[in-house]
Amino acid sequence: MPGQPAKMPDRPEQQPAATGMASDRFPLGAAVTLADLEVNPHPVLARLREGEPVSWLPALGGWLVTRRDLALRVMRDAAAFTVDDPRFSTARVVGPSMLSLDGAEHGRHRGPFTRGFGHAEVRARLAAYVEAEACRLVTAMRPAGAADLRAGLAGPLAAAVIAEALGLGNADPSAVLAWYGAIVDAVSDLARGGPAAGAGDEAFGLLSSSLRAALAAGDRPSLLAEAAASASGLGPGEIVSNAAVLMFGGIETTEGMITNAVLHLLSQPGQLRLVLDHPGLVPDAIEESLRLEPAAAVVDRYAARDVTVGGASIRRGDLVTVSIAGAGRDPAVFPDPDTFDVRRENARLHLAFAHGPHFCLGVHLARLEAHAAVRAVLGALPGLRLDPDRPSAPRGLVFRKPPSLHVRWDPGHPAASAPPSTQSSSSSTPGSPTPDCLPQPENSAHLSKSPPPRIATAVPGSCVLHRA
Ligand code: HEM
Repeated sequence: MPGQPAKMPDRPEQQPAATGMASDRFPLGAAVTLADLEVNPHPVLARLREGEPVSWLPALGGWLVTRRDLALRVMRDAAAFTVDDPRFSTARVVGPSMLSLDGAEHGRHRGPFTRGFGHAEVRARLAAYVEAEACRLVTAMRPAGAADLRAGLAGPLAAAVIAEALGLGNADPSAVLAWYGAIVDAVSDLARGGPAAGAGDEAFGLLSSSLRAALAAGDRPSLLAEAAASASGLGPGEIVSNAAVLMFGGIETTEGMITNAVLHLLSQPGQLRLVLDHPGLVPDAIEESLRLEPAAAVVDRYAARDVTVGGASIRRGDLVTVSIAGAGRDPAVFPDPDTFDVRRENARLHLAFAHGPHFCLGVHLARLEAHAAVRAVLGALPGLRLDPDRPSAPRGLVFRKPPSLHVRWDPGHPAASAPPSTQSSSSSTPGSPTPDCLPQPENSAHLSKSPPPRIATAVPGSCVLHRA
């Protein structure tokens, strides 16, 4: 998954080939601060894309690629731009996985999971679960008339779904999230150049035992069990490492994807109206939101050899950060790129799920979750609107989302209704009488659980996967 340099600003070994002349050759890059990138990076990214599409940023200790065509080039060429570098800390905590390998070894680790995470398989196995869980969470909050949708819906949904996919559906959700948090902390500590928190090893040990026990019991079909069964050549430890990466990949990003999509819609009443009138636009709205504010704003690579990209001479060993956020607003591909337009025809050309060999494995599951969540809130929370007293905006260097998303609705409305169907093009308004948003009976065992607690966010400026 996307991430940060192993050691962020203090990386003298990461100076570019021509250190002395870097600020002369890349004055725009030299002026960029981490705060610029964290708070509202888009004006800075636009300037870089225009003037220095591959620029040296002292603040990152690496190159930043902001043009879409060049971003594609870097992500496609794993021989020149690799993830297989000891400076990425995730592998040091959870062991080698598809995320930290390239070439044949990457294929060996990823291969057993590709069928299970394919579109048809994900739908068949998890669609009912995801929809019921989204519905359960929204139904539970409905009487209150106000909520933080990130803490109350997006985070818990993402955590519950990945636990289910990994066969951990019987585990205590708060324990799973505690392991997740401790592992994230350990990867973050390493990424900052310090020793990993001991709790990280312990948590990975507990996660590992839980996954191994679920696999050994063999009584709960899951995407992980299927991968393990077909894992020609992957040992149990390797299966567990990849499962940990799936867990990291599946939680914080999906939480951001859902939160950003709802925020975009509620911030633009005209666009919201369009989607309410044409529920078939829900997937388009989500893709447009991914283009405008991808939940994972960057991915990192290391140059495996000297290479020239966009006029910049990159030296072997240099950090090369691809700005997915920059690519998503490239005006050469997306006219009027800063506008949220749910009818934009080519929004799906965004790179929010990366590209090339490390293209997001969880893309179909993430979309399934986001569609279900957005349909649930639009359908079941009549008069849904942003809470004017508690505004919020996306932030974050790597993972971008608002710290919270406080909304209000009208709980006393006669028809707190069901989510509009994305299959239908019929008109639906918040409050129009539609079927109840009720859990499906087959999920009732799970649905009786209390919702998982709020997910801890990774340390700002850090990535939970490659290197927290
Ligand atoms: C159920 C949810 C998800 C799961 C299980 C998941 C899983 C994964 C995995 C396992 C990888 C590594 C693939 C490889 O290295 O071969 C990956 C890559 C990636 N995912 Fe996801 N992901 C999910 C959701 C998301 C979301 C919502 C986003 C962003 C909107 C996202 C963005 C990315 C990106 C950018 C990469 C590439 C990382 C890199 O190349 O360094 N993922 N994902």
